[in-house]
Order: sequence, then C-alpha cells, then structure tokens
Amino acid sequence: MSGTHESNGPHATGDSAPRAPVPATWHPRPEAAEDVPAVRRINLAAFETAGEADLVDALRRDPAAWLPGLSYVAEAPDGTPAAHALLTRCHVGTVPAVALAPCAVLPAYRKCGAGSAVIGALLGAARAAGERTAIVLGHPPYYPRFGFAPADRFGILPPQPWPDEAFMALSLDGSLPPRGTVRYAAAFGIA
Ligand SMILES: CC(C)(COP(=O)(O)OP(=O)(O)OC[C@H]1O[C@@H](n2cnc3c(N)ncnc32)[C@H](O)[C@@H]1OP(=O)(O)O)[C@@H](O)C(=O)NCCC(=O)NCCS
Repeated sequence: MSGTHESNGPHATGDSAPRAPVPATWHPRPEAAEDVPAVRRINLAAFETAGEADLVDALRRDPAAWLPGLSYVAEAPDGTPAAHALLTRCHVGTVPAVALAPCAVLPAYRKCGAGSAVIGALLGAARAAGERTAIVLGHPPYYPRFGFAPADRFGILPPQPWPDEAFMALSLDGSLPPRGTVRYAAAFGIA
C-alpha cells in the first residue's frame, strides 16, 4: 500500500526542523529486523523524551504484546525510514484488540502524508490479519481521518480518566466493537 500526497513540498510546521525532499509517494511496509535502529531514531526525534522509543523496544521484547507484521515504517527517498507506527495487543474487557501507539514521523517530513500513509497501511495490515478493534489515545483532530471515533460512543472506557475526545476506537471489520475497559500491554505501565 502506498500513500500519496499532492503537495509539491512540505506544509509549514511551525518547527525549525531542516526540510528534506518530500516524496510524492510514500512506501509503507512492515518493519524488518534491520529497521530496528531507525525505528528508535524516528521515535527519539519525534518526541521530547526517550519514553516512546524505550516503549517500542520494551514492547518488542514482550511476546504477549508484539504482533509480528504490525510495526510499519514508511521510507524517505533515500530509503531511510522516515515514519513509524505500531499496533500492539491490548484487551477491551477480556476481548483482544490492538492499540495504536506510538505514531512518529521525523520532523523534516511532517505534514507531508508520511504519517497518514504509514498508519493507513498498518490498519490495513491489521484488518487483513483478522484484528477487529483498534484503539488510540491521540490528537483528536488527526485520527478521525482513519475512521476513529470517541471510544465512549462504543462503550469502550480508558484505563485512566483520559479526555473523552482523545481516546478513540475503530472497528476494523465493521462489526460492533466489544464494550469494556481497555487493558494495555504491561510495557505501557498503565494500571
Ligand atoms: C502526529 C504525526 C504522526 C502526524 O504525521 P504527519 O506525517 O505529520 O501527518 P500527515 O501528513 O499524515 O497528515 C497531515 C495532517 O495531520 C494534521 N496533523 C499533523 N500533526 C498533528 C497534530 N499534532 N495534531 C493535530 N493534527 C495534526 C495536519 O494538520 C494535517 O491536517 P490536514 O490534512 O487537515 O491538512 C507527526 O506529526 C508526528 O510524528 N508528531 C510528533 C509525535 C506525535 O505527536 N505522535 C502522535 C502521538 S498521538
């Protein structure tokens, strides 16, 4: 699956990151073993602390959380992964689901379609793998473009009192999602 963006260049981001050539077409693909250091670099660059990069590494070490084939990267023109998105095992009540976290794009490539391409492809892979429900805690204006809606509409509750509009769910197969409280993988450290 490829992501396309019609812009001739990056959108203004308001950050001071150096701009990089923006591919007209992104090529999202599953993470390969040799991508692991690049995935860490993307997450270190995208977030203020090493928390998300460390989280990805901890999830990768947990066979109960890690879902082979559901960690995706999208490549920049020179072949370097510029975007990363991850789905790991969570539960809604007792029913297995997938949690989307983290999503990260190198600052130089933001708002150029890389995030949408990698997340769209990842959700497609989850659908193909038979996953039925995805949840995300994230920017309320961003995730509805993938079909996410506030989770409380489905009776899906966060494990902590997070803002209703930021905690979202998506049915991957069109069925009504399970109801209940979400339990994340242990590496998230969310009781
Ligand atoms: C959030 C992130 C993954 C989005 O990826 P991206 O490649 O920059 O976004 P895309 O090019 O796919 O989409 C661009 C659209 O997303 C919106 N968008 C980007 N970042 C956003 C944010 N932080 N909050 C709300 N909307 C955002 C843009 O305004 C743009 O909207 P438009 O299509 O209506 O013009 C990326 O900006 C990033 O890595 N941010 C830092 C880490 C982060 O916050 N991760 C997500 C945690 S929930």
